[in-house]
Amino acid sequence: MFKPIIPVLAGIGLVAAGCSDNNNDNDGITVAINCSGTQVTPERLFLQQLGFDRVIIKWRGNVDGGPEADNVCFGTDMAALPASSKTQATVTATGHSEVLLTGLQPGTTYYYSVGGAGSASDTHYFHTAPAVGELPADGNTRIWIVGDSGVGGTGDPEAGYVRDGFMTFASNNGDEAADLFLMLGDNAYNQGTDMEHQAAIFDVYTDLLATTPVWPTIGNHEMGSFGTSMASSPDDYAVIGNGNSGGPDPAPDSPMPYLNIFTLPTSGEVGGLPSGTEQYYSFDYANIHIVSLDSQLSIRDDDNRAAMMQWLKDDLMSHSQDWTIVIYHHPPYTKGSHDSDKELGGIDQPIFAIREEFTPIFEQYGVDLAYAGHSHIYERSYYINGNTGLSTTFDAATMAELNDDDQPASGQGNEAYTQIARNGMDDKVVYTVAGNGGKVTYTTEGFPHPANFFSQLELGSVVLDIDENRLQASFVDVNGAVLDYFVMTR
Ligand SMILES: [Fe+2]
Ligand SMILES: [Fe+2]
Repeated sequence: MFKPIIPVLAGIGLVAAGCSDNNNDNDGITVAINCSGTQVTPERLFLQQLGFDRVIIKWRGNVDGGPEADNVCFGTDMAALPASSKTQATVTATGHSEVLLTGLQPGTTYYYSVGGAGSASDTHYFHTAPAVGELPADGNTRIWIVGDSGVGGTGDPEAGYVRDGFMTFASNNGDEAADLFLMLGDNAYNQGTDMEHQAAIFDVYTDLLATTPVWPTIGNHEMGSFGTSMASSPDDYAVIGNGNSGGPDPAPDSPMPYLNIFTLPTSGEVGGLPSGTEQYYSFDYANIHIVSLDSQLSIRDDDNRAAMMQWLKDDLMSHSQDWTIVIYHHPPYTKGSHDSDKELGGIDQPIFAIREEFTPIFEQYGVDLAYAGHSHIYERSYYINGNTGLSTTFDAATMAELNDDDQPASGQGNEAYTQIARNGMDDKVVYTVAGNGGKVTYTTEGFPHPANFFSQLELGSVVLDIDENRLQASFVDVNGAVLDYFVMTR
């Protein structure tokens, strides 16, 4: 029987509430038009569940705190945040403060202060999404995707190089920041402890997280046990030793720090079909539908896997967005540090489950792009369908979109993919492995996987630029250079 994981978020339903002390004209003195607290600098500050009319601001560590430390003020004028916007946070068992702001205007920039200050820092703002189905004002949604980036928890600096490469790319290409930040799992090595999340996420992407919503998926290193856990429940989270950066949360809502830290949708809060669990979810942004699957826990239990599969089918049928993207950790086609032809003692069984049971759903229900990590490499497939077997069974002639010479099409130049393939059906997907966001390691026997057009051991990340009828996916290295790309039109 499927048991949904209900997050402990009592009280999160706070709406931006009125504060009645903003005017007092009885004696002719006007007081407290704006908020009057003091800006505080949390150790972690990030945005969750950003939609066209809502966002959650979440933080921990009220450095310089004071009586107003748990308040947020917000508004469209950064120099004057109205007192009426002041909203008090809910504090979780792990000491995170959360404020849900609702009733916001679509496509609007809001500034905010943690600590209830009357003005905002120029690094604390967010842009609400456009209305569902609409494009952003600049016509383009930019999505930044990193996988296996969690090396900061081990003291390694490579994730910062990858981040800087994206920043260089972003400033060189329209000077456009990311609208969304997706993380493909193994976000905090080695055991996904709270302190490892601090070092690998909040200390690396500090400025980005204050302005851009982060949407993660669960990797094997999020379950403790140095990434070897084959458990199917977050209740079985276990650290070996004390981790290399401290143990799990001292007073957790969940045994699994990932679930304590991230506040993910369970009820379709940002669009999509309610999943009933934070372990997998979907949401809408502009004209894009995005699904995050749980290939580490839910997939290992027969009932939970069946429930996730049914939810996925229902979810994919229930939206009418122009583009559909799926993320999960375990890649179906890889010859990087993991080999999709081998189960590795069961640890990599989800690779087989994704390929055999989930890729047919992606292809039948209109998914365009699928992203995984786990293998510490970049590998990008052709535009394919029906590739559920081992690498030796890949047949480009029948499984890949072909070019005019009957060779598998590259997705580049005049071989750009069309969402509706040449056979008249929307039945193909480009599968990418981007587990190169913090380290690249080695390849395995049979490299490169024959389903992949481009495979390279090189640090980097993926940038998606998406408008109404055209999508470009770019592999960006630490210098901001594009090493691979493909285009899809519709
Ligand atoms: Fe990894
Ligand atoms: Fe992994």
